[in-house]
Amino acid sequence: MEERKTVAARGTAPFRHEEVQVERLSEVNSEDAPRIETSNAEFNRVLGGGIVPGSLVLLGGEPGVGKSTLLLQIAQSLLRTGRRVLYVSGEESVRQIKMRAERLSRSSAEAAPASPAAGGEDIYVLAESSLENVLAAVEQIRPTDLIVDSVQTTCSEELESTPGSITQVRHVAARLLRLAKLEQISVFLIGHVTKDGSIAGPKALEHIVDAVLYFEGDRHHSHRIIRAVKNRFGAANEVGIFEMTAAGLIPVRNPSSLFLSESGATSPGSAVCCTMEGSRPILVELQALVLATQYGTARRTATGIDYNRVSVLVAMLEKRLGIPLMSCDIYLNAAGGLQITEPASDLAIVAAVLSSFRNRAIAPKAVLLGELGLSGEVRPVGQIHARLREAAAMGFDKSILPAGNLPLLEPVGQMELLPVRTAQELSDLIFST
Ligand SMILES: Nc1ncnc2c1ncn2[C@@H]1O[C@H](COP(=O)(O)OP(=O)(O)OP(=O)(O)O)[C@@H](O)[C@H]1O
Ligand SMILES: [Mg+2]
Repeated sequence: MEERKTVAARGTAPFRHEEVQVERLSEVNSEDAPRIETSNAEFNRVLGGGIVPGSLVLLGGEPGVGKSTLLLQIAQSLLRTGRRVLYVSGEESVRQIKMRAERLSRSSAEAAPASPAAGGEDIYVLAESSLENVLAAVEQIRPTDLIVDSVQTTCSEELESTPGSITQVRHVAARLLRLAKLEQISVFLIGHVTKDGSIAGPKALEHIVDAVLYFEGDRHHSHRIIRAVKNRFGAANEVGIFEMTAAGLIPVRNPSSLFLSESGATSPGSAVCCTMEGSRPILVELQALVLATQYGTARRTATGIDYNRVSVLVAMLEKRLGIPLMSCDIYLNAAGGLQITEPASDLAIVAAVLSSFRNRAIAPKAVLLGELGLSGEVRPVGQIHARLREAAAMGFDKSILPAGNLPLLEPVGQMELLPVRTAQELSDLIFST
């Protein structure tokens, strides 16, 4: 008893201890509130199967990538399932929001009409940047879902620091988290990120919120990739793939087709890997350009692939296979703007580099899977069946894969399996004909 008082006295929050309600874990009701599925399958997937009531989700991305568009679409979709949505924007006027909503619903046949049927529910909109006013609007409208665009423009009048400062964004996020938990409102918070990582960007909020979704890659492609980098209610690393159209962000049904070259023919320097993005296998074409260095030190660049990983693999090739890459410029690129982080793509990276160096193409319709160790040994990869099935579905008929995966492998369609143990065996195999 004595101890509890001391703890309470030490705490900064002024709470009375009769309010403290400790429960036995075994008696806690664990029945999940049902997730709310939107009509956007890719968005549901990134969230781990739909929106969890009472959760705070941060959606980050570079300027103009489509954050407001996506959440307005989600608002329209939620409206159709009978939810009450409040969309607050500190960046745009209500007229701008209306114009976007009209564009989205005009070009998408199934979207909700911008003006509701008589007596029907509507999306509530508010152009406001004061946190206190947003909370007052929530009190008044009592929405089931709240969208705040954006965390950098929303600020509390209780604090003196400027909008967008680290103190402000943290305060706003923490206050909205409390709102979400207490009122069981699902809250979506938009956050801007810039290429150089803004000072008070969403990074500072990642630990506060329940889920963090980021738009990945650049916006020069028409497709957009959203990745869950954190999710308290589902698997992290899950990706959703969308196409940006006049009708908004439309889910892409067959993502692998986006990251493969259209002709299907292979040219020197190109190799296809299959990377697991969350629970989904995606085929990606890697392209390498290796050429003799003209001036001074060799140049190396990697787009969509971890630069340090490439350096390690190139050093391994140099040492184990005796290939003089030291005097070569190497440019590596993953097609389509996906960021590949999985070591299972090592074999394809090495194959692409070797193929460009020798100026000989790898056999067409071959997928390469495997991680490489520093001594050039090929290590088995996880989820091999899912990868091979995806490759087979995309018309691939050969797979170069770690010999270590073979013992537990079941046949996948007509796929020809070509096991390798070392980088040297890989090199011998791809240039054997
Ligand atoms: N009529 C249209 N057809 C297709 N795409 C459009 C159309 N109008 C706008 N867009 C796309 O929508 C993007 C803007 O999206 P949106 O405003 O949702 O981005 P945002 O991430 O919220 O940007 P900001 O950081 O400025 O708030 C534009 O970059 C453009 O590619
Ligand atoms: Mg916006």
